[in-house]
Amino acid sequence: MKILGIETSCDETSASVVEDGRILLSNVIASSMDLHKTYGGVVPEIAARSHIESVTPVINQALLDANCGWDDISAIAVTKGPGLGGSLLVGVLSARTLAIIKNKPLYGIDHVKAHVFANFITSSPLKNYKLPQFAPKFPALALIVSGGHTQLALFDAYSRYKLLGTTTDDAVGEAFDKVAKILGLEYPGGPSIAKEAVAGNPTAYKLPKAKLKDKYDFSFSGLKTALLRLAQKEIGEDFNFPSHQIHHRLTKKQRADLAASFQKTAIDTLIDKLMLAQKEFSPKSIVIAGGVASNQYLRTTLENLKLPFTIYTDPKLCTDNGAMIAVAGFFAHQVGQTAVDPYSLEIDPGLSM
Ligand code: KG4
Ligand code: ZN
Repeated sequence: MKILGIETSCDETSASVVEDGRILLSNVIASSMDLHKTYGGVVPEIAARSHIESVTPVINQALLDANCGWDDISAIAVTKGPGLGGSLLVGVLSARTLAIIKNKPLYGIDHVKAHVFANFITSSPLKNYKLPQFAPKFPALALIVSGGHTQLALFDAYSRYKLLGTTTDDAVGEAFDKVAKILGLEYPGGPSIAKEAVAGNPTAYKLPKAKLKDKYDFSFSGLKTALLRLAQKEIGEDFNFPSHQIHHRLTKKQRADLAASFQKTAIDTLIDKLMLAQKEFSPKSIVIAGGVASNQYLRTTLENLKLPFTIYTDPKLCTDNGAMIAVAGFFAHQVGQTAVDPYSLEIDPGLSM
């Protein structure tokens, strides 16, 4: 069963065809990231306009790459939320229109949960995808870490999960993006900090790890402020010094050490909680999902810790993509979820797990 997945929740327009929830036949991604770089973050109006321009060619290319015609497609799955309203609208209205004119069942998908399902893809005729050999088994412990979300969840079925913890303030990816701005590194901050950190000493500065009442909850806002104060101190200024001027005064070494120390503290915090949950729940699989899951320091540290049954998918399937939406659509169908009415599927920008 081949499902077309469409994703437009933020700045990536993506479409993909996935067979039986595990074989990746195509994954086309057009990103408007370069247009946002000068602004230091995603500009919603620019993102929405780019989706309008890209959505039709991206869908056509996804079908072409998969060697599919519309007759081969059994259903359409589309991100309904969470995300930017204007961006979501483009994907949802495109999917609704296609579902009506091509007469296909339509599924509205939760983007955050779908990040987890990217890990179920285990084979592909496409080159350049390093996929896990085995799909996750339930119960599966999932660390979902993206620009908008930081969740630890225990899935005991495709559609059943328990949320163990979430962030009480900034998402971890958001913290990477904000700290990158302070250090004068380009958007998106995650890959920029990871690159900068390579030349830095991760133990050069001691930064705080938040202690929270609920042991599986996260907080990254204090870490971001601690980094800001540290950078101000390093250049000999007090807390009144504007954050956007700091990077002009940092030496190369200070910038690299700050990036490496921040990355270590943020990622170690994620790993501490993941390990705690692994001990408590003894899951059959552990999956890392979302844009931050492509972080190399996170992957290497986890690999060295030899956490059992951990699944690592290709970094291209960690950041936003249509494939994870197609897999989520397949599982929705598998568990007997009824398709939605294509005349009435609405976006849900504030959708939460
Ligand atoms: O999942 P995603 O593509 O979009 C959302 O659903 O938010 O995640 C984007 C986030 C951004 O905050 C970006 O800075 C972060 O993932 N990110 C990374 C890396 N690559 C992307 N964070 C740390 N290290 C990376 N290599
Ligand atoms: Zn995402």
